[in-house]
This record gives sequence, C-alpha cells and structure tokens, in this order.
Amino acid sequence: MTQHKATVLSHPNIAFVKYWGARNLDLAIPAFPSISMTLSRCYTRTTVEWRKTVGEHEILLQEAGVLETAPEAFRGRIAGHLDRLRDWAGIEGHFKVGTENNFPAAAGLASSASGFSALAFGVVRALDRTVDVATLSRLARLSGSGSAARSVLGGYVEWPVGDDATTLYDDETCVARELAPHDHWDLRDVIALVAADAKKVSSVDGHRRTDTSPYWRTREERIEPRLELVRRAILERDIETFGEVLEAEAIDLHCLAMTSQPAIFYWQPATLSVLARVRALRDEGVPAYSTMDAGANVHVICEAEHEDRVVTALEAVPGVTDVLRDAIGPGPREVDDHLF
Ligand code: DP6
Repeated sequence: MTQHKATVLSHPNIAFVKYWGARNLDLAIPAFPSISMTLSRCYTRTTVEWRKTVGEHEILLQEAGVLETAPEAFRGRIAGHLDRLRDWAGIEGHFKVGTENNFPAAAGLASSASGFSALAFGVVRALDRTVDVATLSRLARLSGSGSAARSVLGGYVEWPVGDDATTLYDDETCVARELAPHDHWDLRDVIALVAADAKKVSSVDGHRRTDTSPYWRTREERIEPRLELVRRAILERDIETFGEVLEAEAIDLHCLAMTSQPAIFYWQPATLSVLARVRALRDEGVPAYSTMDAGANVHVICEAEHEDRVVTALEAVPGVTDVLRDAIGPGPREVDDHLF
C-alpha cells in the first residue's frame, strides 16, 4: 500500500530587491519583481500525510523536540492553505502536518517563506505527484506569503510580476525563476539578531498600507534600474555594485514603512548600531553590506572569505543578542526523517 506521507526541508530566502506592495494581495501578486537568494542552514522541516477519510486537518508544531498541537492562529493559517492545496489537487480527505524550524521561532526571521514552500512541496510529494517549479512556486505563493514563491528554488532567484500584458499581471506566470545556481557565487548571510520587543506589524499590513507613503509614487523609478544592476552584479560577482543596491533597497523598504499611514517602525536602536558597524567594516576594508526584512534584525551579506570577520564584529555590537551564520544553498529537498 502506498504511504501517502512525505517530509521535506525548505529554507528562508533573503531579498536583495524587495517585495513591498502588491497588485493583488489575495493572489499575492507583487507590485514589482524581486530578487533573492535562498539560504541553506536555517530550515523548516515539514511532514505531510494525506488521509483519505473526511476530517479536520491535524496540525502539529515541534519545539524543543516535542511535537504538539500548534497554537490556534498558526493552525488557522496552515489549514486555510491545506484547503487550497486540496482543491488544487482535486482530492477529498484531510492532512496531518508536523513542522519545525531549526532557527529560534521568536527571532523574527521570515519563517513563512520556508514554512509555506515546505507545505506546498510536502503536500505535492505526499500525494506522490511531480510538478514543475513554476507550479510549485505558484502553490507556495497562493499561501499569501509571497516570498514563499521564491523559496521553492535554490540559488539566486527572481520573482516577476507575471507577464500577461492585458491584466498587468498573471497568476500562472507570476512564479519564481532561477537567475543563477547556488554554486555560481558563494555568498554568506550573517544575521545579527537584535532584541525586538516592539509590536510587530505583519508584512501583509505593510503591503496594504504602502501606497499611503509619499515615496510609493516614485518606487517604480528606483526599482527598475536596481533590478537590472542586481541581475548584472550577480552574474559578474560584483560585490560592490551589488552591495550598494542591496543597502539602498533595504533603506527604501523601511522608508516606505516609516512614512506609511499609520507609520510602521521595525527598527530597534541596535539595528542602527549594526548598520553603523557594517559601514565601519567597509572602512576597514571588509566588503560587507546590510539588508533587512520587515523586522529589526540585520542580514549582512559578504563573500565566504570575510564571514568570520563579520561574525566577530557583529557579536561585539551592544544590543545584538545572537549572530547566525547562513549561506546560499541549493533549495528544498525531500528527506527520510519524518516528524511523526
Ligand atoms: C520585507 O508577504 O512574503 O520580506 O509572509 O511575512 O514572509 P511574509 O511576507 P511577504 O513579504 C515579504 C516582505 C519582505 C521583502 C521580501 O522578502 O521581498
């Protein structure tokens, strides 16, 4: 008898050109394209089992080695996407899902990209189906976590708006594609975690609100040349051009957030300390560049030879609670060690 069960590992990604603002939030169609790299050390591991009987989805979360019923809000979001995936597959029944992150849950790192890409991939494999990357990217994206669309691929990834000229976007073609494989350029992501006790505003609220910022009107003028510069800098492994755009994009994202109505402040005092330390590192001859997602933590991108130096510098910044080392990687994969 076929066992309708599969376990997958999927990773978060860090965007160089950011997804902020949507054309269609329900379908998670972004306002503009974005470019990211998929990480390799932080991961979500998810086991999915398809049960043909009618019933409610069972959703478990593993923390500190203990697998327990997940908190209600978490269950609600996963169950909603499981319903969508069940409709897509045209099947009946329900799913049992177990999931864990190997990075601290409270750290404010984007676990939804790894989580929802793992869920989509896990369901496809539990059903013993094979789909192309475009379909998987779309299935991950429809979770509502748009950045999950990028985590179905490893390496350097671009996520376009979709290319139907008549509607300005298209659900089928708004899917991630590889810009370069992971072994093209061994970039590292040194993540400085800072104490973040400020109230978190979700990315969805940020996307929804961003057109209230006066800077939104000119976003397109800035993003188009940056996309071109980043694509070229990745292909040519040009860390300086790449780094300048990376920093400009992160500041742009946070300016848009801070000038939205109501304003959204993700930074903590230590965020600014880390940004200053990274600029000082460059003055000391270390080509390292910072970026941030919708949170207070700082991702410092550098080439492999500078990683240790960056880690040491960031560990010494007051207000930094932990420093994680991550690196570009090959993307999600199926594994044997099931969570249940
Ligand atoms: C700032 O809608 O994908 O990380 O579901 O919280 O992961 P989550 O957010 P999502 O927006 C991502 C916003 C961003 C920039 C980016 O990753 O491109």
